[in-house]
Amino acid sequence: MAAKKKEEKTEFVNKQGKRLDGRTTDQVRPIKIQVGVVPRADGSCYLEWGQNKVIAAVYGPRECLPKHTASPYKAVVRYSYRMATFSVPDRKNPKPGRRDIEISKVSSEAFERAIFTERFPNTAIDIFVEVLDSNAGTRIAALTCAAVAVADAGIPMRDLISGVAVGKAGGKIIVDMNKFEEDAPDAVDIPMAILPNTEEIVLLQMDGLLSKKEWLEARGKAFEAIKQVYELQKQALLKKYEQPVEAAENGGVVQ
Ligand code: CDP
Repeated sequence: MAAKKKEEKTEFVNKQGKRLDGRTTDQVRPIKIQVGVVPRADGSCYLEWGQNKVIAAVYGPRECLPKHTASPYKAVVRYSYRMATFSVPDRKNPKPGRRDIEISKVSSEAFERAIFTERFPNTAIDIFVEVLDSNAGTRIAALTCAAVAVADAGIPMRDLISGVAVGKAGGKIIVDMNKFEEDAPDAVDIPMAILPNTEEIVLLQMDGLLSKKEWLEARGKAFEAIKQVYELQKQALLKKYEQPVEAAENGGVVQ
């Protein structure tokens, strides 16, 4: 009972418009992106988004095995989202659970919209993403990181995929919710990803309910935040490919 009273009192956005971690309602957590961190892969990326840390490696287009899973019309996109055992406060069972399978499925569907798969029949494009540390928003951090890795692999895409999770906590619409906000009693969580140039939505999930007015506010805030994420993705790619070849092969790091 005492805990419930405390929850009811939690003010997720104060009178000055600041959240508990000091951000404004439309501010995303700090994002760092480094391209080309797994030399064995065709393309790779490491991304930090607040406390979230994810690494993506991409292989392909390559032979699609077993052969009966190949398509004569297009490349098959296989996306694997996994959380490291040590990436959550409780030990994460290393066996992929329903959540890992669901996130992998919706993310591979997003990439099927982005990649020109029809140019690579009978092949597979394998995208592996490992979450090393987490604090809500990992499916979007993973997708954002994977999009940069796919671009680094030189796989032609209509556009990068960029996203953010928008939602509601304490009655206020906020972008890029952290775990504490996601656990608010009235929390609504909406991970969203788009192809930024056309604004085509390629991933949209929703946990909770919003009124139409709230949804329009959330969508507007999400699109603004996604523009910032998109710029950071492009800057990271430019940072690698504007370097001399030796540095580019070393993930943009000049030694
Ligand atoms: O990470 P995302 O917000 O995309 O997905 P979620 O299912 O809403 O999970 C929110 C957060 O819960 C994750 O980012 C993790 O920090 C945490 N989590 C956990 O502690 N243990 C799990 N087995 C899965 C998620």
